[in-house]
Amino acid sequence: MRFIDLAAQQKRIRADIDARIKAVLDHNSYILGPEVGELEGKLARFAGAKHCIGCSSGTDALIIPLLAWGVGPGQAVFVPAFSFFATAETVALLGATPVMVDIDPVTFNIDPRALDLAVSAVRKRDNTVYPLPRAALEPGLEPRAVIPVDLFGQPADYDALLPAAQRHGLLTLEDAAQSFGAEYRGRKTCGLGCLAGATSFFPAKPLGGYGDGGAIFTDDDGLAGLCRSILVHGQGRDRYDNARLGLNGRLDTLQAAVLLAKLEIFSEELAARQKVARWYGEALAAVPGLTTPSIAAGRFSSWAQYCVLVADGRRDALAARLKERDIPTAIYYPTPMHRLTALEYLGYAAEDMPTAQACSGKIMALPFHPYLSEAEVGQVGEAVARAMRDL
Ligand SMILES: Cc1ncc(COP(=O)(O)O)c(C=O)c1O
Repeated sequence: MRFIDLAAQQKRIRADIDARIKAVLDHNSYILGPEVGELEGKLARFAGAKHCIGCSSGTDALIIPLLAWGVGPGQAVFVPAFSFFATAETVALLGATPVMVDIDPVTFNIDPRALDLAVSAVRKRDNTVYPLPRAALEPGLEPRAVIPVDLFGQPADYDALLPAAQRHGLLTLEDAAQSFGAEYRGRKTCGLGCLAGATSFFPAKPLGGYGDGGAIFTDDDGLAGLCRSILVHGQGRDRYDNARLGLNGRLDTLQAAVLLAKLEIFSEELAARQKVARWYGEALAAVPGLTTPSIAAGRFSSWAQYCVLVADGRRDALAARLKERDIPTAIYYPTPMHRLTALEYLGYAAEDMPTAQACSGKIMALPFHPYLSEAEVGQVGEAVARAMRDL
């Protein structure tokens, strides 16, 4: 069994992908060719955002808006303590201070009440209000932005987060790397009211390409213009007028061509993902010691991953049993962000973010993609149930 089956998807759309790649080879416009603009238009409409700017990865989709806002030293950017490293890495690369916020134990997303406390703690320079990084105890760190992550495809709690961000005067950047296609109260991610949204087209993502890629979404004309400039070495009036520091962060024409083919079947795949998640929920509901994912009211997940919590330290043994039966699993994430080696300088202790810490010891992802059959899900469910009984 495959953890993610990209071959099954390719079989379905191979002819379209071949034709679109051939069109690029025929027109020879590999950098910002017509497919990039076509894709950006379609993605903006899909997400309900005014602008979409294709870029070279989800990581660049995060760093480019932060650069546009001038995020840097002396500024605190609030991030969930449980996410892929890029969420905090981009902040730290710019010299700003990632301030960790613990997560909700059910959705695994940033806890809005904890965000409130973390911002107050930074303002008061008081880590008895909320655990803070070392730098936040020195004078001069100002709250600047928050990056909510829609982990595993489930949107964060924007009804609580957006007013909190407004109250505290924080810029909002949605890390929708895992949640493109997901919905919150009928609106699509990257169009939920954050000042900017960032997604990833890494092959394993819900809308994945055949290489790296990403996109930035915003309704703000000024921000969109700055992002487009930063994308091309801070381009000003023309190519050799460099008005600001930037990157080479463009989305390749070939990637855009592949993504256009995949976008054609994306809505059907999202529906299939719901079905697979439902089958898993039914197959695993009665397994003692296992907590299946739960989607909060008004949210529709893009199911980037199907992650369960395994109780009583039995996770690794369960993974080994499943491997014996040729069922692959993965751990997202074995170390919470506040304890990653590269962020040791922040000075967090494990117990500072107790929910993120506990999740990283129990979480396990099961095989998940839109082409899994009910029988295959049943087979995984039965193997999990048997192993949990025996362990
Ligand atoms: C939550 C999150 N943010 C950012 C990224 C970075 O995206 P990319 O790998 O396209 O740079 C990822 C990718 O795994 C992610 O899961």
